[in-house]
Amino acid sequence: TVVLGLEGTAWNLSCALVDEEEVIAEESATYVPAKGGIHPREAAQHHAGHMAPVVGEVLDAARRDGIAIDAVAFSQGPGLGPCLRTVATAARALALRFGVPLVGVNHCIAHIEVGKWKTGAADPVVLYVSGGNSQVLALRRGRYRIFGETLDISVGNALDKFARQVGLPHPGGPKLEALAKSAKEYIPLPYVVKGMDLSFSGLSTAAAQAAKKYDLADVCSSFQETAFAMLVEVTERALAHAEKKEVLLVGGVGANSRLREMLNIMCEERGAQFFVPEMRFMGDNGSMIAYTGLVMLKAGVTTPLAESRVRPGYRTDEVEVVWK
Ligand code: ATP
Ligand code: FE2
Repeated sequence: TVVLGLEGTAWNLSCALVDEEEVIAEESATYVPAKGGIHPREAAQHHAGHMAPVVGEVLDAARRDGIAIDAVAFSQGPGLGPCLRTVATAARALALRFGVPLVGVNHCIAHIEVGKWKTGAADPVVLYVSGGNSQVLALRRGRYRIFGETLDISVGNALDKFARQVGLPHPGGPKLEALAKSAKEYIPLPYVVKGMDLSFSGLSTAAAQAAKKYDLADVCSSFQETAFAMLVEVTERALAHAEKKEVLLVGGVGANSRLREMLNIMCEERGAQFFVPEMRFMGDNGSMIAYTGLVMLKAGVTTPLAESRVRPGYRTDEVEVVWK
């Protein structure tokens, strides 16, 4: 079975072709905002402008190898409305052109499924941290249940906002990580965990204030230590609650080596196994949509055209996980 997948919920337009074994082809085009954060309409224009060459490369690869496409999967949500609509329109056109089913994929679930596929994690507690989301999830009675999540902005968004306020370019996460390496001192910042939920917006503001008084490297490192300790605390509690033995880290912020180190220590102390997929499968990518589309298709799940409208607020726990 071969599925073509299209991702474009935010900054990355990406198209991929996968089968059960591997990624056959993947092509992407990255939107970089001229200034400030992601502008939804500009990002959508970027995706529309790059659609033909990005999809074209992948279709060329399929043609070259004589591969037939069995379905077209696309990220139906959550994400930025204009971006989602651009991607959905292209996906519908492709499915009609090839006469194959359409599969609408939940973007968050795709992060999880590709992570499981690429690491071999069987039934993990998932820490999903990105620019749009911060959630701790685990599969229970056929759904990815959200054990804890942010009450305001995501951790990636908090990092990016802080970075902008101190004059660093977008995305801020990688810049902060690099700066934090030369830190000498810990500066106390607000640590906010409420029950199983998190809040990052006060932390971001407080860090921007602190940057006026203290060394920037120290503030960057303290920001990371505080935010990541919050995430590790909730992940650890979910592990106990859900009675799982594995932790899987997914989403763009998962690229951070300090976060990985802290999670790894927690897992070792708890006798849990820690899994992180390769870098290329952490952030948004077409392969994760194609692969999730494939497992859904094989379980008999497809999306009729009439139900293919985009879902900007699509929640992870709305999806019935009927595949294995
Ligand atoms: P989603 O739609 O799933 O919310 P997204 O569109 O935000 O995802 P991702 O690629 O999953 O895209 O995540 C991007 C985020 O990851 C940005 O906020 C960026 O700053 C952050 N990030 C990337 N690398 C690092 C790093 N090394 N350390 C911390 N954060 C990072
Ligand atoms: Fe994402």
